[in-house]
Amino acid sequence: MNAEPENTESEHAELRQPGPDRAAGPLRSYVIRQGRLSKGQKRGLEQILPHFQFPETALSSPQQAFAREQPLILEIGFGMGDSLAEMAVAAPEFNFLGLEVHAPGVGHLMIEAERLQLDNLRVMNHDVWSVLPHLPNDSLSGLQVFFPDPWHKKRHHKRRLINSDFLSCAAQKLKPEGFLHIATDWQPYAEQIYELIEGHADLAHCSPPPRAQTKYERRGLRLGHQVTDIAVIKNAKG
Ligand SMILES: C[S@@+](CC[C@H](N)C(=O)[O-])C[C@H]1O[C@@H](n2cnc3c(N)ncnc32)[C@H](O)[C@@H]1O
Repeated sequence: MNAEPENTESEHAELRQPGPDRAAGPLRSYVIRQGRLSKGQKRGLEQILPHFQFPETALSSPQQAFAREQPLILEIGFGMGDSLAEMAVAAPEFNFLGLEVHAPGVGHLMIEAERLQLDNLRVMNHDVWSVLPHLPNDSLSGLQVFFPDPWHKKRHHKRRLINSDFLSCAAQKLKPEGFLHIATDWQPYAEQIYELIEGHADLAHCSPPPRAQTKYERRGLRLGHQVTDIAVIKNAKG
């Protein structure tokens, strides 16, 4: 069976994580897991990724990394990436940049990207905080974060990806009228996100755009969780 991103039921794994937590600025919103790579994922990383890799040198001018210049959507934490591949197929008029720290997920998405011949998808096996701040302001037409790790325990809330710094940075990088779309199956996290958004005058609620169902979402639904989609746009003068 393929290794897949764990959900954070195993948040205690964080306690075993060696090394400094704050190496790259904000506290890590993920645990580096020792997933074994399947043969396919290994091939995805070694042979296919070079064709889909978004080069760090393109961060200041992201359109140059794509075959066509068209509106750019950034997805953070795509997991195994099937839903991102599905969205890239469904919207060829957009370019998609996917970020994921979990290497087996990147390898898995690469197999799909090759199979589907996606020329509007690029990926980075990176932490969002080493990417998002380096993109030009007003460069993203959309930013999507589907099922960010919920970090259930109170003492771990500080690890949640969606916080005020994240929203400020996201608002800077979105074009006016660009959207931020977040989905979660953890109601207390949804409530916290609503509260945080209230503190950002440049973000206004809108209807969530359509999206593909994700793997983590299916798991949440099986457990009887309620899924909340939250979408905002950056005000034209934001
Ligand atoms: C709960 S999983 C959801 C995966 C996928 N979006 C889905 O719905 O199936 C959250 C994902 O976000 C990734 N992640 C967490 N923090 C991240 C960060 N700072 N930068 C990039 N990816 C991150 C994790 O590795 C994990 O795969």
